[in-house]
Amino acid sequence: MSLKILGISCYYHDAAAALIVDGKIAAATQEERLSRIKNDPSFPEKAISFCLKQAGITARQLDYVVFYEKPFVKFERIIKQILATYPQSNQLFRSAMKEWVTKKLWIKQTIAERVRVSFDKILFCDHHLAHAASAFYPSPYQKAAILTLDGVGEWSVGTYGVGEDNKIKLFKEMRFPHSLGLLYSVFTAFLGFEVNEGEYKVMGMAPYGRPRFVDKVKKLVEIFGDGSIRLDLSYFTFHSSPEYSYNDKFERLFGRPRDKNSLFFTDQTGYPQFWGDKPKDYAHQVKVNQYYADIAASIQTVTEEIILTMCRYLANETGLTNLCLAGGVALNSVANGKIVKQTPFRNLFIQPAAGDSGGSLGAALYVYHQILGRKKRYQLTHGYYGQAFRREEIERFLKKKKIIYTEYKDEKTLIQVVAQALVKQKVVGWFQGRSEWGPRALGNRSILADPRRAAMKDVVNSKIKFREPYRPFAPAVLMEKAKDYFAIDDPTSNPARFMIIVVPTNKTKANNVQAVNHMGTSRLQTVDERTNRRYFRLIKEFGRLTGVPVILNTSFNLRGEPIVNSPEDAFNTFIKSGLDVLVLERFVVRK
Ligand SMILES: [Fe+2]
Repeated sequence: MSLKILGISCYYHDAAAALIVDGKIAAATQEERLSRIKNDPSFPEKAISFCLKQAGITARQLDYVVFYEKPFVKFERIIKQILATYPQSNQLFRSAMKEWVTKKLWIKQTIAERVRVSFDKILFCDHHLAHAASAFYPSPYQKAAILTLDGVGEWSVGTYGVGEDNKIKLFKEMRFPHSLGLLYSVFTAFLGFEVNEGEYKVMGMAPYGRPRFVDKVKKLVEIFGDGSIRLDLSYFTFHSSPEYSYNDKFERLFGRPRDKNSLFFTDQTGYPQFWGDKPKDYAHQVKVNQYYADIAASIQTVTEEIILTMCRYLANETGLTNLCLAGGVALNSVANGKIVKQTPFRNLFIQPAAGDSGGSLGAALYVYHQILGRKKRYQLTHGYYGQAFRREEIERFLKKKKIIYTEYKDEKTLIQVVAQALVKQKVVGWFQGRSEWGPRALGNRSILADPRRAAMKDVVNSKIKFREPYRPFAPAVLMEKAKDYFAIDDPTSNPARFMIIVVPTNKTKANNVQAVNHMGTSRLQTVDERTNRRYFRLIKEFGRLTGVPVILNTSFNLRGEPIVNSPEDAFNTFIKSGLDVLVLERFVVRK
């Protein structure tokens, strides 16, 4: 009899469910894809139903359901944190009690009732063990060092460990409140972005600044030889307030926070057309924004220094050259790009859902391997674990909505038609196969465009994304051609496949891929035929037509919405946006 384990993560940010059957991932998805609420943290009822349906089982057939953290341990930490900072923490006390006493402490009951499983099947896994398991067990390594880093789990904010065969041992932990993830989030808030969401924006802003405030950032944080840090808590309030993460002393050091409603641009980012005419005080705004870009560059520089120090320590301690990385900080793709180049680690594995949503997968794998002692057998080679839709379902939808379409029964023709549309500067909504696991679109729910001219950034932005001009678009490149265009040592490595590594763009080719070249770097995705045949063939055909085997790939969603999941989501996005072509499997809809 096969062993079926469901992992769940929720109640913090971006809830998810993952189902493994005999250690192999059967299904995994974030709740937001189905509920259509961006970063939906609520109990992932829809994701769970999908996972069970995908595997063709009922909840009764589950052997275990595992939650990705230990609520009582986390609650204890929050209580201690409140007591240590009382009376400043009075407000935190009230909001925490409301959340915990009414909901979070009852997770076992909630799982029993809503998944319909008995209490004896419900297990809990330590948060950072779940992160560690999510990175090590799906990796190709039999032995590897493990680094987990995030805002905070129960007490841990980061751990060092080793995985060997089917066992993980975490040998050192860094504890709350001295958290690199939280430090980065404080700057995310200061720079006017939403915490847990805007960290990408800080990273995108950083290349436009100079890290001239590194010394100031280091007033807040002491870095030790093992990479662990100590924050000077007199600058912060995240440990005592539910709303604010820094205080007046922080503002005396860094000035006023950036107005979150202001537009961010510098001379180098340009001022996109869809924002209209330049403001009268453009020069003044550029000057103000440059200051914040320099702050972003400074926190990014210090973050990289800390991560690289951690990696060097971990490599020396373990003597290993393989590294598995997980936790929200592992999504800092710029730092990831430097690990293999600047530390003794030679190989890096990052699972696509490296943040808390991936904790659901890690928790399930942890039980399978570590608790039940099953052998490590499967490697994760792609990120397509979400929902797929059959031809008949799509056809029924199109007919019901009276949508005019063309069906290309021959895949070769389909690919030619789409590649030609890209060459003609059309922006294409590309929907096929199972949706992606994790925050990146990897060619199954993607918006695609021609990357050759810089103007395409503005075109995609004015048609659909409306993103700030400093945010990069990513290239998807044929794996065998990746080295021609990008300074990537190993195009087959998972961080490159999953778009979680930023590398320099080769100077000789940068001019050919202007729309995906971000200040001399690219967050690339390498694509091979075995992993995603249709997507690979499309890029290849585009390469044949243009001489550039690279396309611009960005996630298929409207700004502020989750990535599309169903044909209906895709069509709605197509209609509401300026997308020119919609591809639903082999059906093509044009405007
Ligand atoms: Fe986490």
